[in-house]
Amino acid sequence: KIIILDFGSQTTQLIGRRIRELNVYCEIVPYNKFPRGDESVKGVILSGSPFSVYDASAFKVSLDEIRGRYPILGICYGAQFISYSNGGRVEPAGSREYGRAHLSSFDRNNILFNGVKENTQVWMSHGDTITAIPDNFKRIASTDKVAIAAYQVEGEKIWGVQFHPEVFHSEDGTQMLRNFVVEVCGCGQNWSAASFVDTTVAELKEQVGNDRVILGLSGGVDSSVAAVLLNRAIGKNLTCIFVDHGLLRKDEFKNVMHDYECLGLNVIGVDASAKFFKDLEGVTDPEQKRKIIGRDFIEVFDAEAHKITDARWLAQGTIYPDRIESLNITGKTIKSHHNVGGLPEEMNLKLCEPLQWLFKDEVRRVGRELGMPEHLITRHPFPGPGLAVRILGDITPEKVSILQNADDIFIQGLRDWQVKDANGNETSLYHQVWQAGVILLPVQSVGVMGDERTYERAVALRAVTSTDAMTADWAHLPYEFLGKVSNDIINKVKGVNRVTYDISSKPPSTIEWE
Ligand code: XMP
Repeated sequence: KIIILDFGSQTTQLIGRRIRELNVYCEIVPYNKFPRGDESVKGVILSGSPFSVYDASAFKVSLDEIRGRYPILGICYGAQFISYSNGGRVEPAGSREYGRAHLSSFDRNNILFNGVKENTQVWMSHGDTITAIPDNFKRIASTDKVAIAAYQVEGEKIWGVQFHPEVFHSEDGTQMLRNFVVEVCGCGQNWSAASFVDTTVAELKEQVGNDRVILGLSGGVDSSVAAVLLNRAIGKNLTCIFVDHGLLRKDEFKNVMHDYECLGLNVIGVDASAKFFKDLEGVTDPEQKRKIIGRDFIEVFDAEAHKITDARWLAQGTIYPDRIESLNITGKTIKSHHNVGGLPEEMNLKLCEPLQWLFKDEVRRVGRELGMPEHLITRHPFPGPGLAVRILGDITPEKVSILQNADDIFIQGLRDWQVKDANGNETSLYHQVWQAGVILLPVQSVGVMGDERTYERAVALRAVTSTDAMTADWAHLPYEFLGKVSNDIINKVKGVNRVTYDISSKPPSTIEWE
């Protein structure tokens, strides 16, 4: 495997994803937590960082243990750091170098550039630049603006690149990463969904034996794939619990329960909506809503789990991005996500997280490998607190019902609207957006229906494109589609007389409104 030392760059996860896409296994660890003594490590990548090597708080680490033992590739800050700590010079770039650039010259014979096109486009994003490299470093690429765009340490398997090969706009970036992990480090390209399923099923059998496992299902992709995988390993010794907090999409509880039963899962469905509605009554603060829902969820789940007296394990659909130990750079919580914090300790359950090393796209591939239905696998992400964070202001069953009806029209509309993708294949708008939903606004406005004046609610449609929910753009949905949805909602959903479309991107907005 490849180890990626994370120095805090926003694109560190992308490095991991690109390498996994090459079917090579890799792990991302904080810059100072190299897994000593792990014999499966074949190479190390140093990520970028928001810091300059001169910042007092910059992340620094001794490379003595790694150098000479493993091939190393430094990316952006990683490259600056290796050069600087060997006596090279790094200086602020005149203006921040950001965006597209071309490798106007590079060493064709260097293994890092095998199969790379002449003048290939790369993506730059750095405030500092390497202005001089130590004597035993050799420059191997330049752009018009950046003389030392890449280097290799002579006689050693150490490379540094100033650009970001992991981002989409670096045309041959994946090829360069492949050259490093496959040609230089000698990693096999055998990490696939099928091999993951085989090894994980065997490992789960070993880990859990004949013990009973309980798992909380949410209807989302991650927990569903975790359940099907466990079901394959231990069958009826898996008990799933699906709590309905009353804030799911229209008919979702019923539909998802049906899907789970078709998949042969042993599921207990708990309708706890009355409790959630009671505890949320009159609450308007978003964080307060999240806290109440998180607490109630644990209470309800806990009560059900206690009935299963022989349970020894709690399984969760945690995936890799949820776990990657984040280097907390700003120290601020923007929103408290992931409110479902697990069970109280006294239950004494051991934790089983079979998807903990997978990225979202890999979870989907595993789901397909397991033969799960496509509509479960391609389902949009949905927030844990559900429609509670899409009803601005206090929550009542009546508002939930209005929102469910409007949301259902929007989502069904996205599914039904056929378009061609970039390759000319038929797809739907639903598959082209990352996530979509309707927001119920705390606003009433005047309208006219027939001869009557109305004074009813306004809703906002929200649809975004994204790859990881960290950044997102508003989806440029066709006007005709928006017009149809608006018409349908106003005509069919009693209580709504105005529809707006949210055209904010993240940042500075967020995907949800609360
Ligand atoms: P934001 O609104 O922060 O959302 O741009 C990013 C992603 O996270 C989801 N989200 C949540 N998921 N509990 C969750 O499990 C939450 O409290 C929560 N808030 C937001 C959101 O739907 C989007 O996919």
